[in-house]
Amino acid sequence: MTISVTPLSGALGAEIGGVDVSMALDDGTVAEIRQALLDHQVIFFRDQDLDMAQHRAFTLQFGELFVHPNFQLGQDNAEFVMVRREPGDLRIIGEDWHTDTTMIATPPMGAILYALEVPDAGGDTLFANQYLAYDALSNGMKQMLDRLSAVHNDTRVAGPGTGLNGQRASQVREDADWRPTENAHAVVRTHPETGRKCLFVNRVYVHHFEGMTVAESQPLLDFLYAHAIRPEFTCRFRWRPGSIAFWDNRCTQHIAVNDVHDTARHMRRTQIAG
Ligand code: SIN
Repeated sequence: MTISVTPLSGALGAEIGGVDVSMALDDGTVAEIRQALLDHQVIFFRDQDLDMAQHRAFTLQFGELFVHPNFQLGQDNAEFVMVRREPGDLRIIGEDWHTDTTMIATPPMGAILYALEVPDAGGDTLFANQYLAYDALSNGMKQMLDRLSAVHNDTRVAGPGTGLNGQRASQVREDADWRPTENAHAVVRTHPETGRKCLFVNRVYVHHFEGMTVAESQPLLDFLYAHAIRPEFTCRFRWRPGSIAFWDNRCTQHIAVNDVHDTARHMRRTQIAG
């Protein structure tokens, strides 16, 4: 082993030490980092110094860059999402529990979020292990969910109806030409690398179960949303400038805590195609 792996909670998350991710990494080190991600679902690095080219190069060691359709605003470097809070912002990116970008047919496998400027206290990110959420369900519930798919779309997070751009520095597509993206996914998915089953519904993107109405779906969805984020399935990460969180988007949810209102918080995110 060339890296150290220190678990952060009983549920998920580990801090990785002994590696400078701004450098070109050898295949063995990349394999160790990838294994740590599979074992812990989200991994963290401290005190890293990453410019955009190095952030891109680190991401490319784990797959292809994903360009988020709702953050394509004609800017250079569209593969980066600048997750920015400015003093006075009321809303932030990722302010409710979610898995990223699940409205597309093949959601990203992961994301690498790098902290540029963070408050002295607050602005933490929480993660929840969706393997544990599935494992903790009764056999009867598992059998029922195993047969269900859920319809995911992005109408709550983009498009002219949301009005989010007026409330936060991070901007998304809200133009009249924007159209929603909608796809159905199995409620219980099998992780392609670990073979483990996990729960795959989130309150930001899911609208209803396929073949059911919203009203019929909502009570069970509400139960699953609350169940999926039980404290014993979570970890909480406190940021410092130079910290990185790299999460496996196939088996986790996360939330950016919206608890600092007069302090800037600037992050830079890449996503890895699914
Ligand atoms: C996100 O949801 O990708 C942003 C998370 C964060 O800013 O902590």
